Amino acid sequence: MASSSVMSNKAERWSLAGATALVTGGSKGIGHAIVEELAGFGARVHTCSRNTAELEACRRRWAEKGLVVTVSVCDVSMGADRERLMETVKATFDGKLDILVNNAGQVFIKPAAECAAEDYSHLMATNLESSFHLNQLAHPPP
Ligand SMILES: NC(=O)c1ccc[n+]([C@@H]2O[C@H](COP(=O)([O-])OP(=O)(O)OC[C@H]3O[C@@H](n4cnc5c(N)ncnc54)[C@H](OP(=O)(O)O)[C@@H]3O)[C@@H](O)[C@H]2O)c1
Repeated sequence: MASSSVMSNKAERWSLAGATALVTGGSKGIGHAIVEELAGFGARVHTCSRNTAELEACRRRWAEKGLVVTVSVCDVSMGADRERLMETVKATFDGKLDILVNNAGQVFIKPAAECAAEDYSHLMATNLESSFHLNQLAHPPP
């Protein structure tokens, strides 16, 4: 009861109508929930992942719920993909991006001593480099 009244107050207080957001890794898990939350508050949201079919299934379900979400495939560990993603976002939102959620990421599920150098490089490219580069691309110099 208490939590539904908090939710309803929140919904009355906050609106993201007119805002635009990019959430990386929105096809599953935490990113999926963030997409729904932002779109539920009225933001136009774009999201990406590496799987076309999963993204399209998400987009259809969101459209059925009346949520405005666009999708495109992007592997955030790849520089060229990140640049293409930001070009798509720029065109979709007419150059205006208010919110960037660098959610896409991976974890090691084995002991660090067993991770090859390539595993580590890929982890860094996915989790760290991608966030840094997407932030740069979202804030071009004046
Ligand atoms: N769950 C936790 O307890 C927890 C704790 C601490 C931190 N985190 C961090 O929170 C974030 C989300 O976690 P989660 O549990 O929601 O993960 P998840 O369920 O595995 O979902 C990850 C999402 O990111 C996408 N993704 C993964 N690698 C990608 C890549 N290289 N390029 C583009 N998209 C990619 C996945 O889609 P595809 O695989 O189809 O590309 C999926 O949509 C991650 O950064 C994770 O490290 C999670």
